Amino acid sequence: MLTISRFTCEGLAKGCVTDERRPRLAFSLESDRAGAKPASATITVNGHQMVLGSEQSVRYDGPELAPRTTYTAHLVATDDAGETAEADIAFETGLLGAPFDASWISDAAYTFADKGASPVPMVFRRTLELSKPVASARIYATAMGIFDLELNGRRVGDELFAPGFTSYKTNLQYVTYDVTDQLAEKNELLATVAGGWAVGAFIYSRVNRVAADRQALLLQLCVTYEDGSRQTFGTDEGWEVTEDGPVRYAEFYDGEVYDARVSLEDATWRRAARETLRVSPRLTAACGDPVRLHDRMEPVSVTHVGDQLVFDFGQNFAGVVELRLRGAAEGQVVRVRHAEILKPDGTLNTDFLRSAKAELVYTCKAGDQSFCPTLTYMGFRYVGVEGADEKDLALCAYPVFSDVRETGTFACSNDKVNRLQQNIQWSSRSNFVDIPTDCPQRDERMGWTGDIAVFAPTACYNFDMGRFLRKWLRDVRAEQLRGGGIPNTVPANGFGFPTTMPSMAIDFWGDACVLVPWALYQAEGDEEVLRENYDMMCRYVDACRFWASFGVGKYRYIWHTPSFLHFGDWVAPDVPKMSQWQSRSKWTATASLQHTSSLVAQVAQILGRGEDARRYAELSQNVSHAYEDVFTDGAGKLKNEFQTAYVLPIHFGMLGESNTERAVDNLVKLVEKGDYCIGTGFPGTPYILFALADNGRADVAYKMLLNTKCPSWLYEVAQGATTIWERWDGLDENGQCPIGDDGTDMMISYNHYASGAIGDFLYKRVAGIEAAEPGYRRVRVAPLVGGGLTWASGSVETVLGRVSSSWKLADGTFEIDVEVPVGATCELLLPDGTMQELGSGSHHASCACQSDEEA
Ligand code: BGC
Repeated sequence: MLTISRFTCEGLAKGCVTDERRPRLAFSLESDRAGAKPASATITVNGHQMVLGSEQSVRYDGPELAPRTTYTAHLVATDDAGETAEADIAFETGLLGAPFDASWISDAAYTFADKGASPVPMVFRRTLELSKPVASARIYATAMGIFDLELNGRRVGDELFAPGFTSYKTNLQYVTYDVTDQLAEKNELLATVAGGWAVGAFIYSRVNRVAADRQALLLQLCVTYEDGSRQTFGTDEGWEVTEDGPVRYAEFYDGEVYDARVSLEDATWRRAARETLRVSPRLTAACGDPVRLHDRMEPVSVTHVGDQLVFDFGQNFAGVVELRLRGAAEGQVVRVRHAEILKPDGTLNTDFLRSAKAELVYTCKAGDQSFCPTLTYMGFRYVGVEGADEKDLALCAYPVFSDVRETGTFACSNDKVNRLQQNIQWSSRSNFVDIPTDCPQRDERMGWTGDIAVFAPTACYNFDMGRFLRKWLRDVRAEQLRGGGIPNTVPANGFGFPTTMPSMAIDFWGDACVLVPWALYQAEGDEEVLRENYDMMCRYVDACRFWASFGVGKYRYIWHTPSFLHFGDWVAPDVPKMSQWQSRSKWTATASLQHTSSLVAQVAQILGRGEDARRYAELSQNVSHAYEDVFTDGAGKLKNEFQTAYVLPIHFGMLGESNTERAVDNLVKLVEKGDYCIGTGFPGTPYILFALADNGRADVAYKMLLNTKCPSWLYEVAQGATTIWERWDGLDENGQCPIGDDGTDMMISYNHYASGAIGDFLYKRVAGIEAAEPGYRRVRVAPLVGGGLTWASGSVETVLGRVSSSWKLADGTFEIDVEVPVGATCELLLPDGTMQELGSGSHHASCACQSDEEA
């Protein structure tokens, strides 16, 4: 039987509200018939029928969609045996560009400190009476700042930090809430608006008021009555505002101050005033994945340390705690601090939070009560509580992250590698907080481009990144500098360099504008993501080329702007100083230019831009030659040897065949000399195991992967890491941080996904699952046996459905089970070198194979 396993509009199986005029509809199929293939499909929307062949996605191209309307898409799919399946999906249009029937409002009298501070949250309120029975009602709301909504005493929606973090000068989202069931005849609507990213102090220099001088709210409630009439209630001077609410302070770094004794009844309410914004962004329906609270976590232990109760959650993560207090005294103050690690005396080590207080200060009313902040989040494993007795306190926590759908699983016979995989997933969750951040705890949590540039392929295995990354890429496009450079953090949100140098391009960090769309395209096969970002990619690569054009002779393609303008081999553990990481930028930047230009050449080819394809391919070749000429002896040996400088040209295919072989030998020597420890920074880390394994040295790749000496992936695991660290040597064997003030301003985070980019290798080589064609139309399953592993398995919920590979090795026999979704074909490559061509369905295969030890 043929069934439709997933049918989505703009990547969502339900609840899609979109301002996309040509929303993308996609589906996946399942069949119990081996080899079933999609033959044709029709999707009907708005009376318009779209006829598909074997494709499984289409953009709506019918008559213009009306705003604020619910549509049903009806799908009929037929397979090659004539079996059919049908499914419906409902989606809703947003305002589709129509202006709000409401005004921006604020508290005109409110001011707050210039530097470093965040504002006191504003609370807006309005009472509304409805005279007729309601058929349906929606709230459309946005803010300068972040907001919580309450209607008749109940929270509206479950999303945190709405309307999200965007490049506010260009893009601002509004959120749509279905409040049909929450309305009564008499209603009170409350909106608490904190400073968030737009108004509050953010980035480590604590710049505030980046997009607005104070918080502002724009909201409309649109009611359709049962008799068909419609009414809109929008924000205007009829609303009231106060700063006397119970949330006394809220910001991302410092946390929340809450006074439960405060009643809004006693507040001094003022009339709200219309507000003229400094920015004029395009308003669009939220298009990412909402940030939500996730599954509740209980502490694994509690200890008394001095006046503090120290709770351990056994897991580092981004989130918030919930306090439940019994019989509290009025005015009792409970303080909660957060930290990733402890000091030897068992107290919280908050040194690396830098200026972030990461604290909750809760003043109790009398009696039993509970509190969970909603306008901040922290990165932590431990919390220290003062001001409450253990017997009167129950404490739990909720991870906070964007609701990206989990799509990947990986496991193998080595438990430490399994923990590494879990750590990668936890660091992903912790750093997908509306934008891809670097870390969730200290005074950063910014959209550092380099981190997601290297991590995107791994992210796309573990999670459905479609909406999340598309939303972010929209801001990358918006933030691209006049000369083609990409700010180091997106949204830049007041962060300086290189926004101060409009054409400055920075290797690997700026590369995000090429590498992220490319990773999404590989995962989803949607050319639109390339088309949308093509212009940005070309302008960026042209800027890089410009900066690499100052040399003469064989230096003509060497990118060597001063190293302080780069991040180079960022956090490479084989050299201790930041300036030494940066001084490797000649190698990283030149290789980056080769890589991005070669990818843009491929993109150009896909999009039918032949001339561009030729030009960028030529550029990438010239850069390759220059790298070889300038940095090597012409025979595969670097004049200045370090791991990243070998890894990049080997993995990017920059050296001829024989020189690649020699370079691999030299890399192996270097790795052996370093006792199989890692020596790479951000640029080399994702690729080092591929550079080895794909060139005949799987043995060395596995030795590096499974090494537990410092620095290595599994050293962290052996030290009890539950997330990926920013610095390979973040903790010594005693669980203490050996890195003092080393000139990086205490840049030591224990929750940084960048070096978890090796997850890509776990899926692609260890489990062996790879998209041989973008979007998994063609899957390649080719597990790499080695490292003494006796089994491994991986699965990915791809756009076409589930792909999985599960292999084991015993008594000289390799056996594998493979699942291929309808719509895909698969080339299965067995360790004995034989190839099998598979259609959809479940398959089993085996061959003789010795484990590497036996071999
Ligand atoms: C961030 C990194 C980032 C780097 C760039 C750090 O402070 O946490 O992950 O990419 O700066 O310099």
